[in-house]
Amino acid sequence: MSFISAAELEAQQEKALKALDTLDSKSGKGNDFLGWIHLPDAITPMEILALQTAAKKLTDGVEIVVVIGIGGSYLGAKSVIEALSHSFAALLPNRRHPLVLFAGQNIGEDYLCELLEVLNAKSSACIVISKSGTTTEPAIAFRIIKKHMEEKYGKAAAKNRIAAITDQSHGALRTLAAQEGYSTFAIPGDVGGRFSVLTPVGLLPVAVAGFDIAALVGGAADMAKITAEKSLNNPAVNYAAIRNALYNKGKKIEILVNYHPKMHYFTEWWKQLYGESEGKEHKGIFPAGVDFTSDLHSMGQYLQEGERGLFETVLSIGNENSHLEIPFDEQDLDQLNFIAGKRISECNKMAELGTLLAHVDGGVPVIRIGIPQLDAYAIGGLLYFFEKACGVSGYMLGVNPFDQPGVEAYKKNMFALLGKPGYEEVLSRQCGQSM
Ligand code: PA5
Repeated sequence: MSFISAAELEAQQEKALKALDTLDSKSGKGNDFLGWIHLPDAITPMEILALQTAAKKLTDGVEIVVVIGIGGSYLGAKSVIEALSHSFAALLPNRRHPLVLFAGQNIGEDYLCELLEVLNAKSSACIVISKSGTTTEPAIAFRIIKKHMEEKYGKAAAKNRIAAITDQSHGALRTLAAQEGYSTFAIPGDVGGRFSVLTPVGLLPVAVAGFDIAALVGGAADMAKITAEKSLNNPAVNYAAIRNALYNKGKKIEILVNYHPKMHYFTEWWKQLYGESEGKEHKGIFPAGVDFTSDLHSMGQYLQEGERGLFETVLSIGNENSHLEIPFDEQDLDQLNFIAGKRISECNKMAELGTLLAHVDGGVPVIRIGIPQLDAYAIGGLLYFFEKACGVSGYMLGVNPFDQPGVEAYKKNMFALLGKPGYEEVLSRQCGQSM
């Protein structure tokens, strides 16, 4: 509160409540992409069961499932699986569920070759995800993995190891899946990629990894109720109001901070959600992320004393799921006996509190968002909370939070440079520019 006045906050809260109304009444920009708002309530127990059954069928006797997708067709599943998985899942013997690996989120030749090396030695299945069905990165990866599977298992058996998640009726992937006879799941037409984690896009991979998708959806459903409230008790309204108040005071960079290594990809998901939703018309807070305490030893100096155009949003997790105390050591050569008997998580909490106080002192506003522990229910709630706040915040900024016109620019150039038919004019313009 030392960074914004009560009047400034009240003005933004009022604006946020209006934006919430615009969102809920579907009267704002991009209102044909608001299907995500009611997803948690709309998903039926039958649909959850169908996804769990499909996950089981796909993974029967399988050691690795490759999930192919990029952007919103990748980051939701990746963030949830990382948040809920054992930190060293890949090395665990006697796994009950297959290891989920990702592809199509880059165009790395080494990455794909090394993945094929692993798949040659293991039994695998694949989920290919693309709403448009035409995105280059996942299309390239799928062509490679499909060929690998057909050669290794034979065409007929390979088709039972592949599931496709795409638009109900449009796109190359829909046509391909129908022709090849893959099992398919649909992404609702009114749900955009970065808001699709609670559709099969996120739920099937998470179920494949062995996590409780009913609890994930349950957490989101409870958060949907809380964030529907047209009052200042609504945390999504307050988060949107505070970050816009800070933005108006020149704080143009928001850094999502976590103190839990499993939350790294949650930050990546959040960065996409806010970056693609708000970064338009030369406006928008730049979303960045750090993993503390690791990054206190790389970014800590800048955060404490660099340019003051930033603020932090700290994801604070209450209880860790394990228990480990620092042992007493007779010799105390490392001089750590002053914390002997304390839990590791207590040290982490003190690092969190100490950093928060230091950064506020150093002129960095800090928003703190707490969840009780890392589990499917809490993550489901957190996902929905950030989605709802993003819709509200984008409307407060005056942009359409549900499109991403800027993403097309690089694609046009890449297609032209690769010689895709129909892009000749772009290529001649590029040649003109580079002369
Ligand atoms: O949020 C979005 O819409 C994008 O990030 C898309 O998810 C991403 O570009 C991938 O698109 P698609 O699912 O069509 O392959």
